[in-house]
Order: sequence, then C-alpha cells, then structure tokens
Amino acid sequence: MTKVPVPFSEPRPRPSALDLVSLKSAGRRIVMVTAYDATGARLAESAGVDVILVGDSAGTTMLGHASTVPVTMDEMLVLTAAVCRGTHQVVVVADMPFGSYQPSNRMAIANAVRLTKDAGASAVKIEGAGPAVARARAIIGSGIPVVGHLGLTPQAASLAGSFKAAGRRASEARRIVQDAVDLERAGCCALVLEAVPPPVSARVTAALRIPTIGIGAGAACDGQVLVWHDLLGLTGGRLPRFVKQYAALGEQTVAALEAYAREVRSGTFPGTEHTYAMPEEERRAFEGDAV
Ligand code: KIV
Repeated sequence: MTKVPVPFSEPRPRPSALDLVSLKSAGRRIVMVTAYDATGARLAESAGVDVILVGDSAGTTMLGHASTVPVTMDEMLVLTAAVCRGTHQVVVVADMPFGSYQPSNRMAIANAVRLTKDAGASAVKIEGAGPAVARARAIIGSGIPVVGHLGLTPQAASLAGSFKAAGRRASEARRIVQDAVDLERAGCCALVLEAVPPPVSARVTAALRIPTIGIGAGAACDGQVLVWHDLLGLTGGRLPRFVKQYAALGEQTVAALEAYAREVRSGTFPGTEHTYAMPEEERRAFEGDAV
C-alpha cells in the first residue's frame, strides 16, 4: 500500500519589515505598539496591530531603570525572543540598546544579527542620524532591515539630561528633514518620529517614500506608536502630553489584587470550586488512617 505523506503545516514566515513601505503606498496607516513579553505580544497580535516594537523603553517600563541607557543586549535578546515566540503574523522591530551600535559598524552588524537571527526580530531600530546613518547603511548592507528614529531620541536625551520636543526652531526642523532623507537614502524601511511639531512631521512624511511612525508627532505621520504601559494605563506619575490612555489597567490590577488579598485573609478564597475532589472511598480510607 502506498503511504500517504502526513501533511504538515508550512512554516509561515512573519511579514517582512520591508512591506511597511507598501502600506504607505497603499495609503494604509500603520499601527505600532511596544510589547516586551509573549503574552502582551499575543494580545497585540490578536488586536491586529501591524508592528510590535520591542522598545528599549523596557528599561523603564519593565526593568525599573530611570532611563533606557542601562538596557543591555542580553536583556533585549530575552525580551525580543519572548515577543517573537508569542506572535507569528506581525512585524517585530527590536530596539538596539545604547552601546550596542554606536562604537562601530562591525559591532552594529554583529548585534543586529543577534536580534534577528537569535531572537527572531524582523528588523532593528537605531536612534539618531550623523554616525547612525553609517551604522544603518552597514546593518542594511548585511541584509537586516533597519528602522530609524529621529526627533526626541531617548538614549541621547537621557545622557543629556533633557527630554524636550525636537524641531521647534526652523533650523532644527530643517536638520530633522535632512536627517530623515539621509536615513531613507541609507536604506531604512521606516522612521519613528518622536516629539516633533506636526508641520515638521508633515514635511518629513511628504518627503519620504518610507513610512513615518509618530509618537507625539501629530496625525500627518503614516502610522502611530505608543508605549504599552502608557496606552493601557499602567504607567504611574506624569505622562507625556502625547499619550492617550485607552484603558485603566493599573487601577483594575490594583483592585483585583486587593480583592484577592481580602479573600485570602478572610478565608473566602479558595472555595470548594477551586479544589480537587477525592473519591469518597479514598477519603474515608485516608481519614481512617492513624496519624
Ligand atoms: O523604546 C521605545 O519604546 C521607543 C518608542 C518610544 C518609539 O523607542
């Protein structure tokens, strides 16, 4: 008898970060959100977001640091791999943490390879222009898609100790437009614009073929990104003006944990419905045992 080969499901590659350019040409706004673990990433994918950014904002949102600067490559690898394991259909962009790409093109390529080959990211993101343009070109030359990040760049802002909107002066605005063009020419597949006034993001968006993804950059961008904890109401303290909270999960989480604590202390949790039954006969035999 001929053996029918057992059908196996084709391993489906996740969409390429390079496809983001066709979303812009099709006039489709791109939805990006940060996520840092498999559960969050799975939820983001079920909500139909286009891109998950494993941001180095994990430094503050997940790891308890005061800034993104201390985040290490090893931490980004763990977080990125978890996000990739939790998803199949979204583009996953991994941030290159501070110190992982600045020193040399060689180091930038080696670390971008770790994030894509070892952790499974579709693309990496680096901050800034100037020397970062050469880093982007080198990484792209090794076959890895790169997303740029201009405007307020948190790694540099933390080191300078000042988090200000960028491009409010005409000269600075012109610089941002030129840097954006340089990053596109270097081969970047998308560009995050953070905390820049709408006239500047509108000019950049019109000048580029690649999509702009704004955070605090107004509605003219080709897409938007928000940080998970900000969007879901998990961040304590003062929020940047560009954040819109779509839920109050922080409050709901505290309320749930308070209810749990109350029930444990009062003995109402666990109830019998949360326990495992023992066959009557076995129980009697057990309870009849001498202690
Ligand atoms: O690290 C991050 O979450 C980011 C976003 C703010 C764009 O870079």
